[in-house]
Amino acid sequence: MSKKLVVANWKMHLNTSQASLLLHRLQERTRIHREVEIVLAPSMLVLQPLSLQIDRRKFRLAAQNAYYKDEGPYTGEVSFTMLQDLVHYCIVGHSARRVYFNETLEEVREKISACVRNNITPILCVGETKQEKRLGEGRQVLHDQLVTALSNLTAREVEEMVIAYEPVWAITTFDGIMAKPYDVQKSMDAIRSEIKELYGKKASERVRVLYGGSVDDKDVGGYLEIEGCDGVLVGAASLNYFQFSSICETVYQLSIK
Ligand code: PGA
Repeated sequence: MSKKLVVANWKMHLNTSQASLLLHRLQERTRIHREVEIVLAPSMLVLQPLSLQIDRRKFRLAAQNAYYKDEGPYTGEVSFTMLQDLVHYCIVGHSARRVYFNETLEEVREKISACVRNNITPILCVGETKQEKRLGEGRQVLHDQLVTALSNLTAREVEEMVIAYEPVWAITTFDGIMAKPYDVQKSMDAIRSEIKELYGKKASERVRVLYGGSVDDKDVGGYLEIEGCDGVLVGAASLNYFQFSSICETVYQLSIK
């Protein structure tokens, strides 16, 4: 069984000193667990200073986004190549990027390829919007997002990556409706069966699948009990050290049960 994974997406919050203070508090409150991997995804600006402060026995770093070209005249962008020594993971195709920055399926595919090419593990976000859900298109959306995003990868590369199922309607920023674990289970099963069809049984069993809709320390347990759920991607609640450390503790307690 793979380790449980908890990812904190700090989004566009916290300047360098605020992020450093939050990390300090989290380091104080978090025990070293072999069973749980905790990943912090601060803003790009903060990655470098946090990398000097971080206790690597407790946390790893992720970027929230990067550009898919390795180098060139792309003013304002940061490439995966530049992040190589700084992060283990990068979030790719988060709904905020798809919705606010019109990131297309093809751009997500290029980013996934660049991420893997630069030895960074992608955390690919997939999920349907409220409108798509209402129209009964959820399964088709997952299919399209997965087929396109992964089309340049081998089965081995897919095995090693992470997929976060984030129903857009269940994210705090959008509608923040609490998803029922039963519905999340169906979508996570759909993700694994898409992977099985495209890359075989082994890849479908090994790829880590997270729940990425809104969670707090009270309801996180319900999602972690879903069969095949390898952890959570936490947004709003990860900005509060008390909430986030108690989510990590719950994940740990459930993983040793
Ligand atoms: P949320 O966001 O926990 O604030 O709903 C999750 C995410 O979008 O990363």
